[in-house]
Amino acid sequence: MPWLDWFTLAARWFHVVVGVAWIGASFYFIWLDNNLKTPPKWKLEKGIKGDLWAVHGGGFYEIAKYQYGPETMPEPLHWFKWEAYSTWLSGMLLLSLVYYLGASAYLIDPNVMPLTPTQAVIYGVVYIFGGIAIYEAACRSPLAKSAILFAIFLVAFLTFAAWLATNLFSARGAYIHVGALIGSIMAGNVFLNIMPGQRKMVAAVANKQDIDPAWGAGAKLRSVHNNYLTLPLLFIMISNHYPMTYQHPQNWLVLVLMSVVLAWVRHYFNLKHQGTKQPLILVTGFIGFLCIALWVSWPSTSTNADASVSTKAITQQQIQQLIEQHCVTCHSAQPTDDVFKVAPLGVKLDSWAEIQQWAPKIMNRVSVTKDMPFLNKTNMTETERQLIAQWYQQSIQ
Ligand code: HEC
Repeated sequence: MPWLDWFTLAARWFHVVVGVAWIGASFYFIWLDNNLKTPPKWKLEKGIKGDLWAVHGGGFYEIAKYQYGPETMPEPLHWFKWEAYSTWLSGMLLLSLVYYLGASAYLIDPNVMPLTPTQAVIYGVVYIFGGIAIYEAACRSPLAKSAILFAIFLVAFLTFAAWLATNLFSARGAYIHVGALIGSIMAGNVFLNIMPGQRKMVAAVANKQDIDPAWGAGAKLRSVHNNYLTLPLLFIMISNHYPMTYQHPQNWLVLVLMSVVLAWVRHYFNLKHQGTKQPLILVTGFIGFLCIALWVSWPSTSTNADASVSTKAITQQQIQQLIEQHCVTCHSAQPTDDVFKVAPLGVKLDSWAEIQQWAPKIMNRVSVTKDMPFLNKTNMTETERQLIAQWYQQSIQ
């Protein structure tokens, strides 16, 4: 469906652009807040509690943050909310175009749970909105009073959410749903908490009333959550390019561990902005990342074929037959698959030259990450995967 692809391209492009704007603005303001210094006396007397100088793009900038608010309402006053809203809206549009319209191709894996497309879409939507409801309830409970307790809750919640998704949907569909849930929580924080708090503050300034510090404190908590969720979210959004993550038998745990490591790395930057450098955080974060990589890829990188597979040389004919039987329904100049009408990612495996050209990737996707054939639609067996691995070993010797 070429028109759908163009529509998806536009939505994806837009989603990335506004996502960059949202996260960029959010990182900038956190950096700003953490770098404010006590201003000179004349500014303090004006009600400014922190100021900062910067040079950028050929000019000097002087930024001031008021303790409460300015005496009169400035015009125009910039809000920074459409970045979040448009990222969420375009993300939901993209999710619907790729995973809901294409549920049978991308969202459902009959080996995980044999859902109908309608069921899968309903589960997906309930998953996202149910998750937001649980998070919102937790934020309003006594749990939110302790930062440590709430952090433990968030990790447990994320673990459960990841485990649940991988038991409902295809591996990629599961990862993207965890990402959509986190993104929705973040956009929800802006819509349900940060904005209402700011509206009250602005109204108070306009009506020359006092500002209740509780409005700002509630918004601050949510923006701290958003801050720590940013790096895990970005990992999930790009994880679709890395089958070794979402295709792992404990893919939910890979997601959780990566997220914890990345939130920890974010912590380093938050401390650094405040003037404390803790390089040990970055070092332990990197070690954590290495440990995940070792755990995920250690057993599978040794692709020694097992003894049940013959040690005889694998012939070109054997491989061509395997590819013919398991791959060319999709990976062909004329695919016959019911869903994929053009060769996915341009990978065509009709001729021996093409098979050789793609050999390293074939080996990787068939015998290491094992996510080809797609959702194992053509029922490739473990022995056949071993044969591909053996042929590849033999071809590079
Ligand atoms: C049901 C359709 C289908 C079948 C059958 C199938 N694939 Fe794929 N293949 C896809 C799709 C869809 C993608 C794109 C996935 C993505 O975006 O990562 C893909 C991607 C790939 C890639 C990734 C190319 C790249 O640049 O990263 C390789 C390699 C591949 N397939 C090899 C195979 C091999 C080898 C077989 C047979 C053993 C096979 N596929 C069977 C649908 C299929």
